[in-house]
Amino acid sequence: APPLASKKPREQEEPDPDDGRQRVALFFGTQTGTAEGFAKALAEEAKARYDTAVFKVLDLDDYAAEDEDYEEKLKKETIALFFLATYGDGEPTDNAARFYKWFSEGNERGEWLSNLRFAVFALGNRQYEHFNKVGKEVDQLLAEQGGKRLVPVGLGDDDQCIEDDFNAWKELLWPELDKLLRAEENSSAASTPYTAAIPAYRIVFTKPEDAAHINKSFSLSNGHVVYDIQHPCRANVAVRRELHTPASDRSCIHLEFDIAGTSLTYETGDHVGVYAENSTETVEEAEKLLGYSPDTTFSIYADQEDGTPLFGGSLPPPFPSPCTVRVALARYADLLSSPKKSVLISLAAHASDPKEAERLRHLASPAGKKEYSQWIIASQRSLLEVISEFPSAKPPLGVFFAAIAPRLQPRYYSISSSPRMAPTRIHVTCALACGQTPTGRIHKGVCSTWMKHSTPSEESQECSWAPIFVRQSNFKLPADPTVPIIMVGPGTGLAPFRGFLQERLALKETGVELGRAILFFGCRNRQMDFIYEDELNNFAESGALSELIVAFSREGPTKEYVQHKMAEKAADLWSIISQGGYVYVCGDAKGMARDVHRTLHTIVQEQGSLDTSKTESYVKSLQMDGRYLRDVW
Ligand code: 2AM
Repeated sequence: APPLASKKPREQEEPDPDDGRQRVALFFGTQTGTAEGFAKALAEEAKARYDTAVFKVLDLDDYAAEDEDYEEKLKKETIALFFLATYGDGEPTDNAARFYKWFSEGNERGEWLSNLRFAVFALGNRQYEHFNKVGKEVDQLLAEQGGKRLVPVGLGDDDQCIEDDFNAWKELLWPELDKLLRAEENSSAASTPYTAAIPAYRIVFTKPEDAAHINKSFSLSNGHVVYDIQHPCRANVAVRRELHTPASDRSCIHLEFDIAGTSLTYETGDHVGVYAENSTETVEEAEKLLGYSPDTTFSIYADQEDGTPLFGGSLPPPFPSPCTVRVALARYADLLSSPKKSVLISLAAHASDPKEAERLRHLASPAGKKEYSQWIIASQRSLLEVISEFPSAKPPLGVFFAAIAPRLQPRYYSISSSPRMAPTRIHVTCALACGQTPTGRIHKGVCSTWMKHSTPSEESQECSWAPIFVRQSNFKLPADPTVPIIMVGPGTGLAPFRGFLQERLALKETGVELGRAILFFGCRNRQMDFIYEDELNNFAESGALSELIVAFSREGPTKEYVQHKMAEKAADLWSIISQGGYVYVCGDAKGMARDVHRTLHTIVQEQGSLDTSKTESYVKSLQMDGRYLRDVW
């Protein structure tokens, strides 16, 4: 069967062996696989420490088919560990969203979890406003609903070294688990440190012609009913256009994916996930460094020939194969992120020069902590750069894809079109991520670089394509089109609002009456990066947009930002908000959205003559009512 063609069946949990062993549930809410990886790593380690228990790693979505099942099943758990990532605007991961919503609404359930001992490790990034919100809240809720906390919630910070945070939390957890799980007589085992074996897929080399069918299977997946992150839809690039003028030293691409004839659909405000490929340059460098020949064709398996899963089933499902080394490196290997410590240890195991192996192990050890954070994290050294410093390290393919290169993740973009205007196209507005790192390397974002160099079908029959899927969002226009809206979106934060305005224009053309719409857009300079200028003017002329307000940050002597323009219009904005209007903010979370958030508070406070705490609760209630929505990254 084509590997990408059907939705993974909900995993049926096998019953626990009725041998008196305790059960420990490890739940994960993961987006890019880090939380899942931690859960599995901990489970593997724990299996080696305790033979008194069984350890189950569980996807929160798969755990319960219906909300009621969460209650039924959780009631029976006695020890549960949670690994929960927080995304974007303090949101749970897709696979934890249903659980999170259900669990947060459970105030009336009382202390029903009194049999449960739990611990939570949260994954997030301190640069964001809602640092680890999901993990912290679930930790709090578990305690409120009667659970006994084993250790304080672990706050993993991806801005620093999240592996260190995880290891530190784990060290606190072991003594607690020892108390619960360690049989008296073999308590001496506690002192034997456990070193995990290095995971590897099983690789079978095949004939080059075997790889040919795999490209076809990608197209076969089209026409299928459900597309999601595991089952993307192959879509051609129909249009590619540069949005900046030649005067700009940056690049921003308008791209259109053709979804005609697929059953992929979207709504205005949704996100598109795109699986891009590494550039040829990057792939060739990897081939050279690792000593792989690009046309070597192989199949990759996560189990033995007899079907027994390798490494206790902890390996992620392998990618579609047979394929060539070149294709595997291009599509599935994250080669440009900084390597985690576990990667260095795996690399050390395959370094033939003992000095190199020792240095790699040192970097991953507690003694090398400072060096790791300087030489790898602060220097933004990519995996390839690190490998190039250790020429004797030549991991085989199975190890490379299991333990060295993380799986290349899809990149998400706010869709910049509306299906009312473009039913067979998904538009993307993508700024090229490009900059020099401290080592002098020019870092180019994988997906934006791919988009920039893609070939659209309007130019060539041999056009570029990518596996894509749609992720729903709650960033939607008010159901009632007469409700007024305020949109704030500088730079590529404009993307979803272009979709909103297309939608409003389409509605208007069918005679629907529209409420006011104000757009705050920001860019550096009218001559360089005023993207979609003509379109925006057209929206304004046609009445889809009532007012276009642009802040140019690098034209005059002082910086003008969208929030400055908002402050100038405070009275007007307040009248819209206090009359039930909606506020939308899209774009950079760390700077812009935070500053706009403050400005919104100031406007509410001053115009509404409220004190600080009333202002806070006013803005909170806007958020709770879904009238202040943010799509930020
Ligand atoms: P700058 O690059 O000149 O500082 C789109 O990226 C626009 O957003 C640019 O004009 C950019 O200005 C501006 N911008 C940068 N930081 C911002 C912030 N904290 N708030 C609002 N706009 C910001």
